[in-house]
Amino acid sequence: MTDVRVICAIGRSGQLGLQGGMPWEGRQERAFIEDVERFFEITRGHVLIAGPKTVASFPDFAHDERTIVTIRSKERPEDVLSRFPGRVVYIGGGPAVWDVYARYVRHWDINTLPYDGEADTWFNPAWLLAGGAVTRR
Ligand SMILES: NC(=O)c1ccc[n+]([C@@H]2O[C@H](COP(=O)([O-])OP(=O)(O)OC[C@H]3O[C@@H](n4cnc5c(N)ncnc54)[C@H](OP(=O)(O)O)[C@@H]3O)[C@@H](O)[C@H]2O)c1
Repeated sequence: MTDVRVICAIGRSGQLGLQGGMPWEGRQERAFIEDVERFFEITRGHVLIAGPKTVASFPDFAHDERTIVTIRSKERPEDVLSRFPGRVVYIGGGPAVWDVYARYVRHWDINTLPYDGEADTWFNPAWLLAGGAVTRR
């Protein structure tokens, strides 16, 4: 069994991304710094799989303490997840990835940040209810 989880951060209205990055990129207030620290703390020692752009956004040091794997749309999610038996696997996004992998996720860790600005990518609350599909099928 693979323990599939998500950890992500959203703005107050569900903002997820802007022009390929985080909407709040560069913000130095405590909440934003702590969010990044917490992301690396919680994923340490685990598997982190994500689409190519999200993987490219991780700093080099991130690869030292966790297994980071780029996933592609041509791969079947069942095949991808079966490569990590007994591991905790975090699905790092982006949204197109969560659309497909949400049904396997048993734990969502969503940090709401004090951000009210613009975005071009949004959190979809339907992802949270998709997990039941695995047992209903
Ligand atoms: N706030 C957060 O916590 C958070 C987290 C992650 C991303 N984001 C933001 O989200 C925004 C957009 O990211 P993105 O979606 O363009 O980036 P991405 O990381 O490149 O993810 C999307 C790509 O993943 C690949 N993929 C792999 N498996 C897939 C599957 N089963 N189904 C569909 N696609 C699959 C596809 O590329 P191929 O078809 O080429 O394989 C797809 O184009 C950025 O602004 C980023 O900063 C925010």
